[in-house]
Amino acid sequence: MSSMDLVKTAAAMVAEGKGILAIDESTGTCQKRFDSIGVECTEENRRAYRDMLLTTPGLGDHISGAILFDETLRQATADGTPFTKVMTDAGILPGIKVDKGAHPLAGAAPGEKVTEGLDGLRARLEEYAELGAKFAKWRAVITIGENMPTPGCIDANAHALARYAALCQEVGLVPMVEPEVIMDGEHDLDECYEVTEATLRSLFSELYEQNVLLEGTILKASMVISGTKAQGRAGVEEVARATLQCLLNAVPASVAGVVFLSGGQSDEEATAHLDAMNKLGDFPWPLTFSYGRALQAPALATWGENPAANVAAAQAKLAHRARMNGLAAKGEYDAGLEAA
Ligand code: 13P
Repeated sequence: MSSMDLVKTAAAMVAEGKGILAIDESTGTCQKRFDSIGVECTEENRRAYRDMLLTTPGLGDHISGAILFDETLRQATADGTPFTKVMTDAGILPGIKVDKGAHPLAGAAPGEKVTEGLDGLRARLEEYAELGAKFAKWRAVITIGENMPTPGCIDANAHALARYAALCQEVGLVPMVEPEVIMDGEHDLDECYEVTEATLRSLFSELYEQNVLLEGTILKASMVISGTKAQGRAGVEEVARATLQCLLNAVPASVAGVVFLSGGQSDEEATAHLDAMNKLGDFPWPLTFSYGRALQAPALATWGENPAANVAAAQAKLAHRARMNGLAAKGEYDAGLEAA
């Protein structure tokens, strides 16, 4: 696998008007989502749900890739077609979540976490590449709270992200590096800005130290946004301007693309923020989405009402959100289109 292949895959992930569908919930997170709709979290129900999502007609029009969980990468549709084949036929690149979750960081204050999963990662990545994965995601969690995050927590997470990214590129997988600054809390926009900037600076310093090719790397970023419990939360325009300013200060121009997580924003809010940034323009990377909840929420609710009967109705909900976000990735979204 050459550097050119990595660059080509990364460019395809952020092709114009397209973004990433994140459906890589671990079994525990899936349990929470299914509890919310009253569906039992069995392996077959998780398969059926992902089957519904991945076979959505026209999904590839606005979705360039989808991030899967280990179990899903090995599963197939009801008629036995591997999900990886369904995706490839639809022009959707298979991606895989490869971290083993965020765990308490030893020696740090309660609440600070570091993502685990480096041991044995080379062999796991080799297998994922053989199974058809083209890119891999690793999520670090940075929490804003009293006296946190500490530089020790930020740097430990950035180091792990860089080690995983280098291993990915060694086997020809594009790393999607995700340092998520968590939205929960009372912090304001400025505090989120400072923490996000420090996190990104540490990340790119570590990526440089580990010889990671930035042209073959996708950054999955959180937006600079007020905490969920903040007083007087910042509006769409303010979030868009602060996020762009922060990225411009800390993200090298050679990075192949920046995709955002939704992190607990409502579906329409996440679309509006992405659109506002693309309307402002003047940045060196493609800027698009890699939403989990903000793409799935309406489809999940509709499917949950009657999983057997509502497949087409749920797929229509996903197709709509994919189209809205595809427009936002070009700065062509308008809230008036939501009803259309
Ligand atoms: P959300 O968009 O629901 O935050 O999920 C994206 C993701 O992949 C988080 O790791």
